[in-house]
Amino acid sequence: MDDWSPGSWQSRPIRQAVTYPDCGKLERVLQELAALPPLVTSWDVESLKSQLSAVQQGQAFLLQGGDCAERFDDCRAAPIVAKLKILLQMSLVLAYGTGRRVIRVGRFGGQYAKPRSSDVETRDGVTMPSYRGDMINRPEFDAAARVPDPQLLLTGYERAAMTLNFIRSLVGGGFADLHHPEWWNLDFAGTSSQAGDYQWLVNHITESLAFLEAVAGRTLDDVCRTDFYTSHEGLLLDYEQALTRQVPRRPGWYDLSTHFPWIGYRTGQPSGAHVEFFRGVANPVAVKIGPGIAPEELLELIQRLDPDNEPGRLTLTHRFGAARIEAQLPGLVEAVRRADRKVLWCCDPMHGNTISTATGRKTRRFGDVMSELQSAFEIHAAADSSLGGIHVEVSGDVVTECVGGAGGLSEGDLERAYESEVDPRLNYEQALELSLLVAGRLRKR
Ligand code: PEP
Ligand code: CO
Repeated sequence: MDDWSPGSWQSRPIRQAVTYPDCGKLERVLQELAALPPLVTSWDVESLKSQLSAVQQGQAFLLQGGDCAERFDDCRAAPIVAKLKILLQMSLVLAYGTGRRVIRVGRFGGQYAKPRSSDVETRDGVTMPSYRGDMINRPEFDAAARVPDPQLLLTGYERAAMTLNFIRSLVGGGFADLHHPEWWNLDFAGTSSQAGDYQWLVNHITESLAFLEAVAGRTLDDVCRTDFYTSHEGLLLDYEQALTRQVPRRPGWYDLSTHFPWIGYRTGQPSGAHVEFFRGVANPVAVKIGPGIAPEELLELIQRLDPDNEPGRLTLTHRFGAARIEAQLPGLVEAVRRADRKVLWCCDPMHGNTISTATGRKTRRFGDVMSELQSAFEIHAAADSSLGGIHVEVSGDVVTECVGGAGGLSEGDLERAYESEVDPRLNYEQALELSLLVAGRLRKR
């Protein structure tokens, strides 16, 4: 890495940059951040990299999920517990379906900064800068709230630390009581044609777990201890740089704001600032790829981010949308296979499937999400490649943001509990149903 340094991104063209009115204040905040302890350690980062390498070899499966945008206000016990619970349940169902260990990665502990398609938002003829996530500005539709404030970087760091602290305590203390059937809430299945299948799968999983515990002589929370990793979009390079450190007895630089940062779809230009920054850190990294990317550009991206073809280093998260995946993914998979690059392929079936209702609500149809996932599994299988993971936006709560699923949510239901400030998430029931459907299909293979 001759010409890389933690600040070398600053001389590259940057997309989605944030302009702070007070540069002096920004500098002071960044200095303070750079002196604070890291949020994760290099050994956990390396341990995730080796888990991701196991995924590449077909020995494990990746489940990445959580909010589109975490809110500072959600740094409370109940929502954090609900997020862990749904990720854990999804992972058990997927482990059953894939017959593999599932590596759990949350979109939490720092998912506070958002890229936006438009810099401005207009309501009733009034135009304001867009809300960019709690770490940048605030969502109220008011000029002062929308001004980027560097102090929010520090608040974000602190909220991330509190969230991680609570997650570690929960995981260490064994938060999941799988022995109670009511822990699985399958009410949504109701009288749907799948209800019997779902109940059967869940019974089967609980029995298998009881068997496993009996054999291991340990409880499941013992067996699963510590394996929740964290991830967020590495959008704010000033923040990422301040938390990028050298550590004793290991070469290189680690971005210790999170285990597994990803580069968003809007900032993945091979010669842009984001790719420049992340090419130099030792973490495993993911990059979102979507409509319009050509095979040559993808190969260039891979070459920049993973020139050594390092096991576990690079994840390609594709997000084309149900209508476009069939036309666009096969050529890319083929190009990567021909170039003999070892990547982890992951499907994000959410971000290519966002639509607006007549009343202007952003939503996604459960059927589109499932259809993109199904296509992704088939395309990889047909190309002698393998889909190693899924990346989803989910809430552990009964929100009403995506339509469809066995619970039959309609557009009219969206007003009831639409809480996301940015993208619509699957709710608890939809997330569980998605996992059950994927598991059922994989089992049949
Ligand atoms: C996201 O993951 O919330 C996101 C903005 O995704 P993408 O970069 O794929 O649009
Ligand atoms: Co999103």
